[in-house]
Amino acid sequence: MVSSIIPLLLLLLLFQLTLATHNSGLEDDLSNDQPSGFFLPFESNLYVEITIGTPTRTFNLKLDSSTQLTFLECDPCDDEHQCDLSDTTRRYDGKFSTTFSPISCNNSSLCPHLSPNVTNHYNATKTTASLSLLCTPSNFCRYDVASFSAGNLVSDTLQLTSSITDQENSLSIVHGFVFGCGTSNRVKPEDDGGGVDGRVSLTTHHFSLLSQLRITRYSHCLWPSSAGSRNYIRLGSAAEYGGDMMPVPMLNMTETNSYSYHIALFGISLEEHRMRSNESSTMAIDIGTYYTRLEISLYEEVKEEIMTQIGPTVAYEVNELMCFTTEVGLEIESLPKLTLHFQGFNFTISNKGFYLRDSPSSFCTALVRSTMEDEEKNVLGASGLFDFAVGYDTSERMLAFQQRDCLADFVDGI
Ligand SMILES: *[C@@H]1O[C@H](CO)[C@@H](O)[C@H](O)[C@H]1NC(C)=O
Ligand SMILES: *[C@@H]1O[C@H](CO)[C@@H](O)[C@H](O)[C@H]1NC(C)=O
Ligand SMILES: *[C@@H]1O[C@H](CO)[C@@H](O)[C@H](O)[C@H]1NC(C)=O
Ligand SMILES: *[C@@H]1O[C@H](CO)[C@@H](O)[C@H](O)[C@H]1NC(C)=O
Ligand SMILES: *[C@@H]1O[C@H](CO)[C@@H](O)[C@H](O)[C@H]1NC(C)=O
Ligand SMILES: *[C@@H]1O[C@H](CO)[C@@H](O)[C@H](O)[C@H]1NC(C)=O
Ligand SMILES: *[C@@H]1O[C@H](CO)[C@@H](O)[C@H](O)[C@H]1NC(C)=O
Repeated sequence: MVSSIIPLLLLLLLFQLTLATHNSGLEDDLSNDQPSGFFLPFESNLYVEITIGTPTRTFNLKLDSSTQLTFLECDPCDDEHQCDLSDTTRRYDGKFSTTFSPISCNNSSLCPHLSPNVTNHYNATKTTASLSLLCTPSNFCRYDVASFSAGNLVSDTLQLTSSITDQENSLSIVHGFVFGCGTSNRVKPEDDGGGVDGRVSLTTHHFSLLSQLRITRYSHCLWPSSAGSRNYIRLGSAAEYGGDMMPVPMLNMTETNSYSYHIALFGISLEEHRMRSNESSTMAIDIGTYYTRLEISLYEEVKEEIMTQIGPTVAYEVNELMCFTTEVGLEIESLPKLTLHFQGFNFTISNKGFYLRDSPSSFCTALVRSTMEDEEKNVLGASGLFDFAVGYDTSERMLAFQQRDCLADFVDGI
């Protein structure tokens, strides 16, 4: 690890000396302004702090690799557009920012799909989080990320701050950052936890944060929040990718599938016992989802097998999580390990993320059943990604994995 960390720190030091500035990633020549490496910290409930506007305001946005557009809650809130009125300080309002600009629907580089006479923007009955853009009679570009948020497409200056130790002053600035100013957000508060103002898009869409920062690589190495410190997402040249990491190709999914990162799932094992080995299915990797989701039959098979291996036990559920009674004092590390069989790589989920203690004589797994509406039945969420470095290369369309002690690795590296 040491060998990969030293060049990384050098990059960070270099980066500290320059203020990286990007003009709108959507408008100008892609050859200039290569972005530097960047550590973007995030809190245990998976939100990052971003700064928008002039003068600046700071918002907490949840990391999301299934929503195509970054959006945050905006004024105005009227009869049609309900907002959470309990916290007006957390809303973005373009009229207080000198760098704010609404995007009109004749901006062909940003709203290429608009048909000028479409007025009814709430009728798009999509079941996915894919993005639709529509034109209002007043010539503004409305967006709708179905089931999440609708509002106006706008642009303003974005600042990201890397707050890693003495990196407090390193900034990445994007002028003309395009995002959704949500006047009709339908994200339930419990979906995002408290204090979250919107979502930051980590997809491959041209409106995503990655595209607008003009980076094609990022990585994370998550440790459990019980370890206390914040986690980081590494962007651009600071991303961990390649080297000894195991590459796994991303699958091309249909346009309508909202998750961006899918890989083939050839089977699941609990310790040596293999389940579902004769059928290939897919799994989305999504840091914005906390619990791992499995299609119902696979979930039931895993549950039966856990009961067989740890028995005698009684299974129960808490908030949809699969839970079991055990003898008093059984260590989490001694519980059976779950392995996902990917192409050329066996991913053994860390017990630190997979099991949660419910009481001295019971524990839960970080597994939930997928529902009929879920378009991707299997999703490996953040809790299943602990203690793995996971790299994403969106241009090569590859993921890369490597087992680590992420906290020790990070602390040693600093
Ligand atoms: C865009 O629309 C506005 C308002 O209708 C109009 O004033 C402007 O000329 C248009 N711009 C272009 C480039 O068509
Ligand atoms: C389209 O929007 C971008 C970003 O706000 C802006 O730079 C550009 O001038 C706009 N183009 C037109 C034709 O309005
Ligand atoms: C849009 O509406 C205007 C006014 O109603 C009409 O003149 C025009 O033909 C319509 N355009 C299209 C493409 O339907
Ligand atoms: C579209 O929206 C209008 C007004 O909100 C509503 O009356 C109509 O039933 C909707 N159509 C569909 C197909 O949902
Ligand atoms: C996915 O699509 C890209 C470009 O369309 C293609 O180069 C690549 O081979 C495809 N990958 C798979 C696994 O089919
Ligand atoms: C193949 O999978 C199906 C469905 O999961 C299962 O019913 C069947 O027993 C499996 N066959 C073998 C040989 O494992
Ligand atoms: C993954 O585990 C299976 C056993 O379930 C084993 O046969 C296979 O060789 C392993 N693959 C790798 C790449 O280690």
